Amino acid sequence: MFNLNDLLMQYTNDKENLIIILKEIQNINGYISQDNIKELSNFFKIKENEILAIIKFNKYLSLNKKGKILIKVCNGPMCTKKGSNFLIKKIEKILDIKEGETTKDGKFSLETKNCFKKCGNAPNVEINGHLYSNVTEDEIVNLLKKF
Ligand code: FES
Repeated sequence: MFNLNDLLMQYTNDKENLIIILKEIQNINGYISQDNIKELSNFFKIKENEILAIIKFNKYLSLNKKGKILIKVCNGPMCTKKGSNFLIKKIEKILDIKEGETTKDGKFSLETKNCFKKCGNAPNVEINGHLYSNVTEDEIVNLLKKF
């Protein structure tokens, strides 16, 4: 089980260590909790709001626990032109969540990404690291049923 104190014992409270520790927590736990922020605030002697600002600024860090299955829909210009916004709406409807959210059962999270560098195969959707190209609304329905 994750224990932030064990992690903090490996570091000094130099502010430059804060982002390293935040990334470690994210890797281990999948998100940064409010309790984590409080403890880090005490350890580094900086305001919780400053830590929150760093988390919000850094796309890699999250305040919400992510689902076991992470869906990333491309919202770059080419994918949007080829209908990725309709895919996002479809997924939101099926899973009953909005972009950036996780289903109540903790199974799915929905995010967007600005270009997978596969624009010729737009629209693109990545599910748990596997990229699906030329995705249609019917295909996204079938894909979600597989998980
Ligand atoms: S715009 Fe979607 S892959 Fe580039």
